[in-house]
Amino acid sequence: MRVARTVPESEDVTSIWLEAADGAALPPWRAGQHIAVRAGAGKGGADEIRMYSLSGDPALHAPFANAYRISVKREDRGVVSRYLHAHAAAGMTLDVSAPRGAFGLAAGETPVVLVSAGIGVTPMLAMLYALAEDAGPARQVWWFHGARDGRHHAFREELRALAARCPGMRTHVAYSRPGDEDRAGEAFDLEGRLSVARMQADGVPREANFYLCGPLPFLRDMRAQLRAWGVPDEHIHEEIFGAEIGRNARVDNPASALSIAPHLPDGPAGDGPTIAFVRSGLRVNWSDRYTALLDLAEACAVPVRWSCRTGVCHNCRANLLDGKIRYAPQPLSPPPDGTVLLCCAKPEGDVQLEL
Ligand code: FES
Repeated sequence: MRVARTVPESEDVTSIWLEAADGAALPPWRAGQHIAVRAGAGKGGADEIRMYSLSGDPALHAPFANAYRISVKREDRGVVSRYLHAHAAAGMTLDVSAPRGAFGLAAGETPVVLVSAGIGVTPMLAMLYALAEDAGPARQVWWFHGARDGRHHAFREELRALAARCPGMRTHVAYSRPGDEDRAGEAFDLEGRLSVARMQADGVPREANFYLCGPLPFLRDMRAQLRAWGVPDEHIHEEIFGAEIGRNARVDNPASALSIAPHLPDGPAGDGPTIAFVRSGLRVNWSDRYTALLDLAEACAVPVRWSCRTGVCHNCRANLLDGKIRYAPQPLSPPPDGTVLLCCAKPEGDVQLEL
């Protein structure tokens, strides 16, 4: 794709608008999805891949018609983000995947609570565009966002305009360290960090669907608070920090980090093919309630690593000792023979994994 233009959104966030280099129509996408961007940002110009949430209007209305917008936060140690901030300019071309990812709004009229921190705002923007388009006036929508201060608060005016289009939506912006020029009640609503107590005080129902995006510590904290309140896991949807997920941002399976021994998953036993986690000494029947082998491994506390969960980074690669799998979605590039990308693989019969 070709960079059409770049737009500064805050002190450390710049949006990059991308259009097809040959002018072709762009594939449709759903709010919450991301694209993988490959850039020669590594040592000696080596390719690096990162995922960035699409931050525009998924209906591709003007000014988004036939263009994708990503918004990149410059991270101090972000190889790709620093490269893009330094080099992205109109006319530059980048290798870009089709939109992918399962993070997105559930259908129906269940109340929606969007909770973001920092650059985690990007998929929320797309979701707000989708809600502004589709949600009837009866649908309850909350959006809670945390930023450091006004200088790091990207998209403030755009979000205000969007909120005005969603009559049923309530917004709260928290600044953790407001600057002297930031006025409470104007630039932001509350000082400090977001919390579930704040949501409860604003009348958020526990039965809502919660969508979280931000840095990993924020996600862990928010998920723990929501669980403590009694929100079921299936109502908590999260995207890890849409900007800088990549090969260097590995995330351990929280269960393995706590050294929980591998075990059979909770809930009813599956009736599908047998999945053997050979190193863990565990044999489990597959169930269609898992979206991929990675989900099953996590449900069993089998130690696994992952990052993108969409077949891009290869962090979840494992040795496939026996059996066949199929991919959905297809990985961006296939793993070496004898290995499998757990995050997007389902079994086609009995499978043995060296895990
Ligand atoms: S977690 Fe990135 S490819 Fe599977």
